[in-house]
Amino acid sequence: MIIVMVPMCQPKLIYGGNYIKEDRNSAFTCLIFSPKEEDEVGSLGKYLQLFVKHKVNLLHIESRSSLRQPNNYEFMVDCAPGGNIASVIEALQDQCSYFSIISSDHKDNMNTVPWFPRRIRDLDKFANQILSYGAELDSDHPGFTDPVYRKRRKFFADIAYHYKHGQPIPKVEYTPEEIATWGVIFKNLTKLYPKNACREHNHVFPLLIENCGYREDNIPQLEDISNFLKDSTGFTLRPVAGLLSSRDFLAGLAFRVFHSTQYIRHSSKPLYTPEPDVCHEILGHVPLLADPSFAQFSQVIGLASLGAPDEYIEKLATCFWFTVEYGICRQNGELKAYGAGLLSSFGELEYCLSGKPELRPFDPPKTSLQKYPITEYQPIYFVAEDFDDAKQKMIKFAQNIPRKFGVRYDAYTQSISIIDSKQQVEALVNNVNQEVQILTDALKKLHH
Ligand SMILES: [Fe+2]
Repeated sequence: MIIVMVPMCQPKLIYGGNYIKEDRNSAFTCLIFSPKEEDEVGSLGKYLQLFVKHKVNLLHIESRSSLRQPNNYEFMVDCAPGGNIASVIEALQDQCSYFSIISSDHKDNMNTVPWFPRRIRDLDKFANQILSYGAELDSDHPGFTDPVYRKRRKFFADIAYHYKHGQPIPKVEYTPEEIATWGVIFKNLTKLYPKNACREHNHVFPLLIENCGYREDNIPQLEDISNFLKDSTGFTLRPVAGLLSSRDFLAGLAFRVFHSTQYIRHSSKPLYTPEPDVCHEILGHVPLLADPSFAQFSQVIGLASLGAPDEYIEKLATCFWFTVEYGICRQNGELKAYGAGLLSSFGELEYCLSGKPELRPFDPPKTSLQKYPITEYQPIYFVAEDFDDAKQKMIKFAQNIPRKFGVRYDAYTQSISIIDSKQQVEALVNNVNQEVQILTDALKKLHH
């Protein structure tokens, strides 16, 4: 155990031997490194002196056992902007047996991997990275001139802004006016689902009625839905205060976390909303997130996005748009909607299957380049054969993303493993062997 003095930002020793000091208002640069020698954990102090020397402030410091080099340790340091970080990096590269940088400031540093969350609680950092706060409305928004509605939007934005991983999502008492708006949407859409929605959506919907209070006279609570999803596929919901960047939103999916709005659209136009609202999330997205195959597909897009260059984030976001938001699939020779933008829009759910718009097969290299309008019906839809097929295509597409390491979500620690060593691959192969053993045992029992 060591105590290190770092000017201006003093790390604090927390239970378990980790140093921690979080500052939520800054760009993130994270350095991960291991000493050259299989040193004692105390060598962290020696390295931290480098940061002091070059006036780089530290936001978070932790030490742990290395997964790459047995008997060695690994240090992870989040740096604040400022100071001479280039010199620190140069010195560390020289003195360490393992070194990698991930940074939100990657645009000017070609050798840097774009920052991504590595632990599920890192998603808390997105709260102050939103592109707009939910209470700010455009002048053409139906609620723009309604002060009561704007106040209400701020109430919802504040809930999300203060939300931390692991907390229950606060339950909201919706007003009679809000429930009436929901009721109109619920009544209209549920009439269309049996004919137009995909099999998976129709399979899960009755369960949501039974378990989560989906009813015409009740807006279901995100917390109840999140718990239901957790039991179904491990997905959870997280309230979001405003618009996240594509990079952040997709990163959530890697952890099977779906960022969800909680407010409802303005009551003057129940069948129209220029932005996602709770109706879009819980009628459109939630039923599919309870399907194991679709959940995996969503996570594949999320994992592909971690540390990917900006141009690939845009391509992945476009694939997300044409699948999770506006996807159509073929089931028993018939076209059905599975995209949330369709399943939550009374007009477009009929239009997309009317034979009028152009349909093309889902093919990520081509789909990822297609431009699309945001506020009107889509002129083109992409058709997936099924979720497993779409998933395989996405995995293949993701292999082209330039990234020097593999990523894997470890559900035990709820963290992302950066796989870039032989030792890690061997450990994974070991895990797979154990899984195969379980399968073999189960198969034997089935034959008896
Ligand atoms: Fe959506």
